[in-house]
Amino acid sequence: MDIAIVTLADRPDLEPWLRTTPGAWPEFMLHDTTGSLYYNVVEQYHAEHVLFAYDRDHPEQAVAKAFTVPFNWTADALPAGGWDRVIQKAGVDRAQGVAPNLVSALEISINPDRRGAGLSALMLGAMRDNVRRLGFDTLVAPVRPNGKPDHPDVPMTDYAFRTRDDGLPVDPWLRVHVRAGGVIDSVCPYSMTIAGTLAEWRAWTGLPFDATGRVRVPGALVPVHCDVDHDHAVYIEPNVWIRHRT
Ligand SMILES: CC(C)(COP(=O)(O)OP(=O)(O)OC[C@H]1O[C@@H](n2cnc3c(N)ncnc32)[C@H](O)[C@@H]1OP(=O)(O)O)[C@@H](O)C(=O)NCCC(=O)NCCS
Repeated sequence: MDIAIVTLADRPDLEPWLRTTPGAWPEFMLHDTTGSLYYNVVEQYHAEHVLFAYDRDHPEQAVAKAFTVPFNWTADALPAGGWDRVIQKAGVDRAQGVAPNLVSALEISINPDRRGAGLSALMLGAMRDNVRRLGFDTLVAPVRPNGKPDHPDVPMTDYAFRTRDDGLPVDPWLRVHVRAGGVIDSVCPYSMTIAGTLAEWRAWTGLPFDATGRVRVPGALVPVHCDVDHDHAVYIEPNVWIRHRT
């Protein structure tokens, strides 16, 4: 593979790849309502923060993409509300004309047929370089550990700090970040909140959602809370804040 990486600002013709990575996410993940505050306006406001990777033999097709967002954050602790919170804050900052002082990663996704070939570290390095180019010295990331769905009942405060004999995280995606120089900062316990009626959750997952309590959903990092009496279920995804110096 001979890979090149560009921004959406460099290659606006790759725009159709912004919202298409078939199979990248479980269906329920596409129903986080906060995400639209970023993804629906990304071409307009954040084209310099979107990266596409393509194979030089097929420059018209993206094989991976990465997204960041600038925001203003002055508290010492990164927000417990993680991914949702930085998107909200970035939107409010933009509306109020507040200058950003920090950049958060929002997503790196590799096309399913290109996974397992080391592209994720390449994208993370390119993301960090791009953030430096844009004038920021720190990139933070509310990381979604990709091995966590196999351990839905383990608290993130335990899982995130599990290490192998070589000292690197057990989780593959956390490992990519730490190997790239990232430092685990903290857990953000309510990074993404996805709520729906029971009918919506049935449609998203194919599961019955017919009993009140915790429901294990494939691809979810923790169980979903189901309430039959009140006809709703809520997924509150914890992520792991990682800090990278650019
Ligand atoms: C998470 C993701 C970005 C990783 O990218 P990738 O190209 O598949 O992974 P890489 O080939 O770069 O490998 C990264 C690490 O994961 C490991 N890995 C790759 N595929 C794996 C699998 N199926 N099972 C377990 N580990 C795996 C690799 O061994 C490597 O770790 P190591 O070098 O320490 O051994 C990719 O799977 C993806 O796009 N997933 C969907 C979107 C997502 O979850 N993004 C992350 C949150 S924003």
